[in-house]
This record gives sequence, C-alpha cells and structure tokens, in this order.
Amino acid sequence: MRVVILESAEQVAEFGATFFVNQIVNKSNSVLGLATGSTPVSLYEKLIEKNNSGAISFKDVTTFNLDEYYGLSGDHPQSYRFFMQQKLFDHIDVAPESTHVPSGDCADPHQACKEYEQEIQRYGGIDLQLLGIGRNGHIGFNEPSSSIGSRTRVKSLTYETVRDNARFFGENETQPTLSLTMGIGTILEARKILLMATGESKADAIAYAVEGAISASCPASSLQLHPDTTIVVDKAASTELSDVEFYLDVEEKRLALEQQLIVNSAAA
Ligand code: GLP
Repeated sequence: MRVVILESAEQVAEFGATFFVNQIVNKSNSVLGLATGSTPVSLYEKLIEKNNSGAISFKDVTTFNLDEYYGLSGDHPQSYRFFMQQKLFDHIDVAPESTHVPSGDCADPHQACKEYEQEIQRYGGIDLQLLGIGRNGHIGFNEPSSSIGSRTRVKSLTYETVRDNARFFGENETQPTLSLTMGIGTILEARKILLMATGESKADAIAYAVEGAISASCPASSLQLHPDTTIVVDKAASTELSDVEFYLDVEEKRLALEQQLIVNSAAA
C-alpha cells in the first residue's frame, strides 16, 4: 500500500485531483469508480475546474458509483444520484448515459445489483476506484462483517453509520437503513484504488486499515490485498498510525526515484 500523509485536507483534495487528471490524460475512456460523502467534495470541485479550463474531458469517460440508499429515487435530495448530479455530473462534459449509480427505487434490488455487476464487466472493469472511509472502517456501504469476496448487493447499515449520516437528513425525513453497494470483491477488482481520508474522526479507521490485520471487522483492511492502492490522508487522519516516519520516508524516496528516472530518460 502506498500511504501518503499530507498537511491539510486541501492538499489531500489536490493530490486526489492530480491522480484523477493523470488517469484521464493517460486513458481518455477511463472507467472511474466514484464515491459520495463529504470527503470527495473538494476533489470534485477541482475536477470541475480542470474540465472547465479544458485540461481534461469526461466526454469518453464512464462512471460507476459505489452505492445508493435503498428506497430513495434519484431525484431525492439525499440520494447519492442527486449528490453526484449536484457535486459533479451537472458541471462536467460527461455523457449522462455514461454515469451509473445503483438504482435506489428499483422494483427488485437483488436483480438490480446483479445487473450493476454485469454492467461494470461490460465496460471492461473499473480503472480507478475512489473511496472514502467510514469511522467504522466501511468502504462503500460494506459495513464490518462484510465478506471480502462480496459483490454488489443489498446491505443493512449499522446504527453507527445511520447516526453518522443523519446529519444530511431533515428531522422529519425518513432515513434509509438499507443500501445497494458494490461488494468488497467488486472494489478489489478495480485496477487502481485511491482512498482519501481527512480529519481526526477517521484516524482509528485508517490505522486499522493500514496496520491492522486483514479482517471483516474493518472492511478497508481488505485493501491490503490489492496490488495498487494509494491511501492519502491529512495529518489529522494519520495520528493513530504507528509508522508515520517510515511512510514519509518512503514517499520522499519514491519522489526522488521518479525524478531520477525522468532525468535518465531525458539523457537517454
Ligand atoms: C458514506 C458512504 C461512503 C463514505 C462514507 C464517509 O457512508 N457510503 O462511501 O466513504 O460515508 O463519508 P464522509 O466522507 O462524509 O466522512
């Protein structure tokens, strides 16, 4: 795992934006896995700016979101489809039919989950998957106890997650307790994964995910099995990691090596 520790949440968003820009520049028809939550919002703002300035285009990009609340239609203000429209899709040149979010108001959610998996396969799999992390270590809506081999399916939310996300719902709004989510197995098939976390409240989950044993108790720890995962955090989210000095050193050496390779190839 590559662990990148930066000073601020702003730098984490900047790092994420550069990561996505490189992906799109290298492969204009990338299949991107996207996430919701407050963490990726400033990354999406930066991608909108890059798109508006002409630095990147989403014209040939396809997107698949991680999850959706079961019971909410796409025009419900708390649905993840609505969130994605507001925070990203409505402001970039992506083709509407190329954006996929599990359907929260489908008649048969089990069938919808199967079809979502097939659709991902039809596009050749996900090139770059973006993840946030829940305080309990969840990724997407894969709560603790989710199988590492799980596929897109209906999942119950823990009380903790319902409580954490209650801030987005009005007092009289019914908050869903079920979701449709890509499975951990689905996520692990992405070619590249970028997990972003900021703030003190994520420090325990990050420490467990990076340095704990791979366990169903912390779904994000399953990323240790993935060959190309980058975890980028701000200082506040890094405070429970025991090997901070080592991660900073690795990153410094990685950058030095990259620069050396650029010099070598220019000289060749
Ligand atoms: C939700 C989403 C996750 C997200 C998590 C953290 O539960 N299903 O995909 O990572 O929230 O959200 P935030 O970034 O707001 O802390």
